[in-house]
Amino acid sequence: MDRICFTVLAAAAAMAAAAFENGGIWPDSGGVHINAHGGCVLQDGGTYYWYGEHKIAGGAGNRAHVGVGVYSSEDLHEWKNLGVALAVSDDPASDIAKGCILERPKVLKCPKTGKYVMYFHLERGNGGYSDARVGIAEADAPEGPFKFIRALRPTPGTAPQNAPADELGEEAMQKSLADTAKPVSNGPSEAGMKALLWPAHTRGGQHCRDMTLFLEDDGTAYHIHSSEHNSTLHIDELTDDFLGYTGRWWRMAVKDWTEAPAICKHDGWYYLIGSGCTGWKPNEARYYRARKITGPWERMGNPASGINPLNGIGPALTWGGQSYYILQPSKATGGRHIAMFDIWRPQNAIDGRYVWLPVEFGDGTISIPWKNEF
Ligand code: DGJ
Repeated sequence: MDRICFTVLAAAAAMAAAAFENGGIWPDSGGVHINAHGGCVLQDGGTYYWYGEHKIAGGAGNRAHVGVGVYSSEDLHEWKNLGVALAVSDDPASDIAKGCILERPKVLKCPKTGKYVMYFHLERGNGGYSDARVGIAEADAPEGPFKFIRALRPTPGTAPQNAPADELGEEAMQKSLADTAKPVSNGPSEAGMKALLWPAHTRGGQHCRDMTLFLEDDGTAYHIHSSEHNSTLHIDELTDDFLGYTGRWWRMAVKDWTEAPAICKHDGWYYLIGSGCTGWKPNEARYYRARKITGPWERMGNPASGINPLNGIGPALTWGGQSYYILQPSKATGGRHIAMFDIWRPQNAIDGRYVWLPVEFGDGTISIPWKNEF
């Protein structure tokens, strides 16, 4: 009896030791705070791979000096640092030259090719956020090395599948060209609200910033990204090798200025969590729901509740965090979907923190109550 008691206590102690404090330091198996920001977790067989932006110390860490890091785990708690999955290039002429902005990497395994495909937000060169491109890379193994393939703005020359009739045609194009002739801000503005943005952006491709990938049950992959100066989300269907676009795409959350999309599917509903556009500063999360990934999407409220005791911040500022991914349920998640958030530290980017919380599902609704530990 005593021995059973001891075994149970030892197991409980081991579990407690393995728990991560949400918003605290998350040590990897070598005791170093995990450095994988804005990323995703891919389950491949019995192993989880956590990909994310590898940050360096200080404000310089907001640009990419190393690339995308990757960790592996069998249980979502003991994470082994596998190094750099996608390295930035020493060649200043490369699209992913050191010092570029490389954010929010997402990885899927393509069932058709058996390859691992990575999509990320790329701002080439040393400028700001006006390049608004997606970068695509591919690898034979989950830990990489990923080979950079190309950078682009998606879906040039095509109209969204759900475009209203008055946004199609020459008159709409002329309005859009006039509306985009002057600079439009990448956050909410009066001019941006009135502007017809997407038709002009068919010349050269649509903007691509914060993003995620979603693999549908039928094997179709979708790239979901902030577009049109961050005013609107685009859902782009990918080709069956996951390396390009079919040209079929849909708009959602039109002029709702949504960043940080993270998506999941449960019980006949799709849910997408996002944030507003306030740079590295936190704001209030919101979610949308739909019966089909292509919409129509309905705006719901803020799923967050509770207070993060480490900073005293509650749901009005999403505990100080911003969404980045929702992990599908598995044994290691206790059968729960896990919503993942970054707490950014732009002054010392490497010190960014993580918050992982189970999603609670209602009847076509979600909520995400704060918990001190994952
Ligand atoms: C908010 C985005 O969600 C982040 O990924 C990053 O691009 C920052 N803006 C930069 O200010």
